[in-house]
Amino acid sequence: MEKAERITHTPRITRIEKGVVETATIKSIFFNDEPSSKADPGQFLMVWIPGLDEIPMSVSYTSEDGSAAISVKMVGTATNTLYFRKTGQPIGVRGPYGRGFSLTNGKRALIVSGGSGGAPLGPLSDLLARSGRDFTVVVGAPVTGELLFLDRFKLNAQMAGGKVIPVTEDGAYGVKGLASEVAETELKENGYDIVYTCGPEPMIKRILDLALEHSVPIQASLERIMKCGIGICGSCIIDSYRVCKEGPVFDGETLKEMKELNMTRRDHSGRPTPI
Ligand SMILES: Cc1cc2nc3c(=O)[nH]c(=O)nc-3n(C[C@H](O)[C@H](O)[C@H](O)COP(=O)(O)OP(=O)(O)OC[C@H]3O[C@@H](n4cnc5c(N)ncnc54)[C@H](O)[C@@H]3O)c2cc1C
Ligand code: FES
Repeated sequence: MEKAERITHTPRITRIEKGVVETATIKSIFFNDEPSSKADPGQFLMVWIPGLDEIPMSVSYTSEDGSAAISVKMVGTATNTLYFRKTGQPIGVRGPYGRGFSLTNGKRALIVSGGSGGAPLGPLSDLLARSGRDFTVVVGAPVTGELLFLDRFKLNAQMAGGKVIPVTEDGAYGVKGLASEVAETELKENGYDIVYTCGPEPMIKRILDLALEHSVPIQASLERIMKCGIGICGSCIIDSYRVCKEGPVFDGETLKEMKELNMTRRDHSGRPTPI
């Protein structure tokens, strides 16, 4: 094993530097860890909560000063505990793992973000802005208070001459409806060279169908229960792909062959269950 690979796989204990409340249920947790600070957009960490569990989390912020962050949505025991961890408390991290998003030659990108799916798309928008790409972000959530990274997306899109379209299901802010409905209009009315997406799997499936219909390349980040995070245990399998190793970001050609996409996922015991 080469030195860089050894560092990636070695669990590292770090301390929480600060927590930033992002939405009503999502908090970003900042910490110092050199390897995490070099993660590509879309890569993830296996985050250890001492005495409890180890769970996959996208790297949601990176910085040249060696710090990084994850943005945690409270959905169960591990995420609730992580959310309420305090500044100075330890967490463990290993990684970054997996294949992230890649920039393409095309100039105009459409980002479609659903709920906590914005976590890997925030750093992607940072990268697109830095590289001077023109992009639109459709950012959706059930209610206004759950729109993740709205200001960050706005700032980045403005830098690149792009725009952000907020979408809420109750219509209290931005367009009323679903992010996929707004993405459909964007793809019909404005030409895009690439679509990037992450969010609930029904949304991802709809965006995939739209991208294929409009012959636009797409990259989507998928979620599955992960145990090892390094391709050994098989808990994250979708069709013949390991989400932790061949993903979590997959291209349209691969996604369209996945029969389990938006159909089944494995539960904690490894049994396929309907989505
Ligand atoms: C590559 C990757 C990146 C992720 N990035 C983030 C992130 O940036 N922010 C974030 O909040 N969450 C992220 N997740 C999801 C996160 O890992 C799960 O929400 C977490 O493991 C749930 O643990 P828990 O103990 O809180 O909930 P549990 O009690 O284990 O589960 C609560 C519910 O969530 C479902 N669930 C559990 N694990 C997963 C999973 N991995 N994917 C989908 N559903 C799951 C369960 O089936 C159950 O319905 C990511 C997952 C993957 C695979
Ligand atoms: S989490 Fe073990 S193979 Fe992917």
